[in-house]
Amino acid sequence: MDVNKNQSRSAGGAHGIAGQFVASQQVYDLETRNIFSSHWFYVARTEELNPESDCLPIRFENQGLFLTRDEAGAVRAFRNFCRHRGSELVNEGNCGSLGKRIRCPYHAWTYDRTGKLVSAPNMADVNTFRSEDNGLVEIACESYAGFLWINFAPKQTLREWLRPIADRFEDWDVASLQIAHEIRYRIAANWKLIFQNYSECYHCPTVHPMLNRLTPYRGASNDLKAGPILGGPMCLSEDSETMSSNGKFAGLPISGLSSSQARSVHYLTIFPTMFLSLHPDYVLIHRLERIDKGNTQVVCQFLFHPDSIRQPGFDPAQAIEFWDLTNRQDWEVCELAQIGMSDPAYVPGPYSNLESVVAAFDRHYLETLG
Ligand code: FES
Ligand SMILES: [Fe+2]
Repeated sequence: MDVNKNQSRSAGGAHGIAGQFVASQQVYDLETRNIFSSHWFYVARTEELNPESDCLPIRFENQGLFLTRDEAGAVRAFRNFCRHRGSELVNEGNCGSLGKRIRCPYHAWTYDRTGKLVSAPNMADVNTFRSEDNGLVEIACESYAGFLWINFAPKQTLREWLRPIADRFEDWDVASLQIAHEIRYRIAANWKLIFQNYSECYHCPTVHPMLNRLTPYRGASNDLKAGPILGGPMCLSEDSETMSSNGKFAGLPISGLSSSQARSVHYLTIFPTMFLSLHPDYVLIHRLERIDKGNTQVVCQFLFHPDSIRQPGFDPAQAIEFWDLTNRQDWEVCELAQIGMSDPAYVPGPYSNLESVVAAFDRHYLETLG
């Protein structure tokens, strides 16, 4: 593969990635092997587990999984197929009515919530059959700050992975927050273009006039400059309380923030599927899901403190409207970049000094891709 020859270590002198990184199936498949099979991926908030059954079917990278809780209360993730002849076990239809055990709808093999096969009708007379060889296939799953994460081949614990931003999860009390709203978008762009776009505000004066009034683009600074977690704070303008259409708080200010935290928005990217935007009064999550090399789904969740949500007249509409508009403005330019970069004649141009985090993302991506 012809790796981008223009890649440089310094942000100012670096060039963008070559078009093949957003247009080649070979690169996409390499990402599947080297990136999307061995990281911690945020897949759901704990509150999304069905309250009746402690269960949630999910799809990740075209693979069926389900999350559940065992009797000790630990969250576990399993492949969503029966070990007999592969029937899907958990779906939206039966999720709410599962009992303590998971019974396959086909021939009634039954598993407990630790994945152990506890019953398999008519299998006792098969000499070679052993229940202990036929439990559900488990995937590593851990909970942190109210988020549930999976990993197909963990090389480090989730806590080690998130250590660089553990203080921010604590300061914003992210574990206590709840989803007040969710929006899903389908974007005709490669996932990396969405990452790169989130990682710089060079485009803000052109693309986001409203955002640029609330947080002027030159007020961005980065305290995480290399590695899998990147980003930092951006100062709010004097007359803005938060990011919302009217610039006013959309929820109660999160208590315990320092004066500088309360006057800024922290924008963080967690490689390779999550953005975390910490506002003075709420937290915005972007979760990226690859569809194919030219398409990505983004799930956007607005998390507020339960005290805000319980308040009479709580209305996060100004924050939702603001980010929906900003997101759509971003998706449009990501889609334009996908088209232009897919042109075989495209040659990457130089980054400005306002794109140092994009260059840092590229470096980490290329190292991880191998
Ligand atoms: S496929 Fe599940 S019991 Fe047969
Ligand atoms: Fe943007």
